[in-house]
Amino acid sequence: MVGGMGVDISTVDLALEAARLGGIGHISDAMVQTVSDRRDNTHFTKEKLKLYKYNVANSDKSKVMFDLGRLAEATHNHVGRAMQAKRGDGMIFVNCMEKLTMNAPKDTLRVRLASALDAGIDGITLSAGLHLGSLALIADHPRFRDAKFGIIVSSLRALQLFLRKNARLNRAPDYIVVEGPLAGGHLGFGLEDWAQYDLRTIVVEILAYLKAEQLDIPVIPAGGIFTGSDAASYLEIGAAAVQVATRFTATRECGLPDKVKQEYFKADEADIEVNMISPTGYPMRMLKSSPAIGNGIRPNCEAYGYLLDGSGNCAYITAYNREAAIHPGAKKVAVMDKTCLCTAMRNFDCWTCGHNTYRLKDTTHRLPDGTYRMLTAEHVFRDYQFSVDNKIALPGIAIA
Ligand SMILES: Cc1cc2nc3c(=O)[nH]c(=O)nc-3n(C[C@H](O)[C@H](O)[C@H](O)COP(=O)(O)O)c2cc1C
Repeated sequence: MVGGMGVDISTVDLALEAARLGGIGHISDAMVQTVSDRRDNTHFTKEKLKLYKYNVANSDKSKVMFDLGRLAEATHNHVGRAMQAKRGDGMIFVNCMEKLTMNAPKDTLRVRLASALDAGIDGITLSAGLHLGSLALIADHPRFRDAKFGIIVSSLRALQLFLRKNARLNRAPDYIVVEGPLAGGHLGFGLEDWAQYDLRTIVVEILAYLKAEQLDIPVIPAGGIFTGSDAASYLEIGAAAVQVATRFTATRECGLPDKVKQEYFKADEADIEVNMISPTGYPMRMLKSSPAIGNGIRPNCEAYGYLLDGSGNCAYITAYNREAAIHPGAKKVAVMDKTCLCTAMRNFDCWTCGHNTYRLKDTTHRLPDGTYRMLTAEHVFRDYQFSVDNKIALPGIAIA
């Protein structure tokens, strides 16, 4: 399974390749209106900005709301485009992050989930949050029992909470992604203690719990699984599949611009950090050279606003206002502790990545001009399936 990578890093094209090859691909519904504008020539963002333009200089963003009908339309465009083009035996799921609170957490999440189902998505992976009430929001949807639902957890405790809270729906998840501390994107661990955790230990604990409770739910480890042998080692202890992402950031189908992909290839271990600049409050792993770090732009909530909480607040607005107050009259301020994640992800300026990104350079050839040869998703997919002895096949060599 290829994991969801927000704001169109795991593109429709990447998900289609995974499905064509018999796997499961993910698209993401993060900033779906913005993605639809780019891919489907719609104008959702422009329209929203026009409506709220009067508010751009105002630090109170509570009035900036999403039109739920337009949100449904954008989700339908994005998911529909993937499902109409799908070929092969595999499936396409959508990654839905609870932390995208969109100034009306419940209402917007209900629309996101329901319209993905309406557009024919094969499954929904609930992520970036505990999702204690998410399934209940769509329990009366006609596809509630036929579409697949999964949850991403980083601890047995989070899984137990999810199962307990959803027990009355009589609808167990179809799969559980167990994400360890080496993953890309946001982490379900603390900034100080993530390195003390180990994916295999958490997977073993969750497998034992499910067995003891006689719950037959496929477990899918994720985070740092870099070779086919890594993957096989999890299947041997009882995992049903693996979820991977970082190796697919170096493929043609990945949505990152080519220049950014080269930054991923070039990165050394010391170039990667886990920091707290995401306004979500979760630690996030990224390249230290991400342009998003320190970029003190004016909050762009009137156009985007995906991280506004239920009261119209975002930690970046607070950080920005603090710096603006300290430097009155300054044309531009630096904000080091938080970033405007909407704008940064929209512009591919937050180079979030998995811990093993520094190994990507070993998965391809270096070209005479110093750049690295781009891979195809098919090549990486097949390498995961067929490589042995922790080897990685370089491009140009047929795999199986
Ligand atoms: C660039 C990038 C962006 C990611 N974005 C998201 C996301 O938006 N939502 C999510 O649930 N996980 C996200 N992840 C996590 C992946 O889906 C996946 O679970 C994890 O990275 C797997 O570990 P690996 O990258 O070491 O293979 C992201 C990972 C990467 C590398």
